[in-house]
Amino acid sequence: MNILEFRTAKEQRRRLAMVTCYDFWSAKILNETAVDMILVGDSGAMVMHGYEDTIPATVDMMCAHIAAVRRGAPKKFIVGDVPFLANRSDLATNMGCARRLMQAGAHALKIEGYDGNGEFIHHLVQSGVPVMGHLGLTPQSVHALGGFRVQGRGQEPGRKILQQARGLEEAGCFALVLECVPGELAAEITSTLNISTIGIGAGVHCDGQVLVLHDLLGLNQGFKTKFLRQYMNGAEQIHAAVENYCRDVLSSAFPGESETYE
Ligand code: KIV
Repeated sequence: MNILEFRTAKEQRRRLAMVTCYDFWSAKILNETAVDMILVGDSGAMVMHGYEDTIPATVDMMCAHIAAVRRGAPKKFIVGDVPFLANRSDLATNMGCARRLMQAGAHALKIEGYDGNGEFIHHLVQSGVPVMGHLGLTPQSVHALGGFRVQGRGQEPGRKILQQARGLEEAGCFALVLECVPGELAAEITSTLNISTIGIGAGVHCDGQVLVLHDLLGLNQGFKTKFLRQYMNGAEQIHAAVENYCRDVLSSAFPGESETYE
């Protein structure tokens, strides 16, 4: 997938599949799958580093993850998240952060929210950096939103998100993540915009979907939410595999003769 193919996909109504990834070996596996693009999300602060939210993510942290994913998935289009407040200083400082994230290996950057981001997004796009927007539940604003909760319910909040989506398209975004908004609102935004919408907890009418890899693999056992579909029970399977290994070591069943040098 390259940037030009997003428009074709929208025109042809071909759905886009995106997953998050933060490390080299997972990226190597994803490189051989049908996923259209990989998001090196700031959710890595939670998934890989154990923080409660994405606020501790830094440009340094994001660069390390982006570089590892790029090495593992050279065939995939990689979107890197601009972490907490790295887009909220003066333009020169913001551009410095963007430069580092792109030079780490991202093909595009994702920026949360609309208000106050217009100039930076416009400048990035004019500078040759593809930008993906992100509206609805924007986790970097979790404290302002009063928690991780559905956004855009009701006429006025829905109208505001639709307006912001139009603003992001005008600013030059090539795609837009819609997180935890009612399905009807996501459908309206998707049919209104000429750019692709990528939903997470936003229903089936978005142009594409994104999930956190560890959630869809069932590795994050405590995390159950309405929009999540688990495609395997990864935590249980890994637990069972390591228990079997321990059993074999304790009973001297491992290593066997074929696993031993002569
Ligand atoms: O950081 C992230 O993983 C994200 C997705 C959940 C959209 O922003």
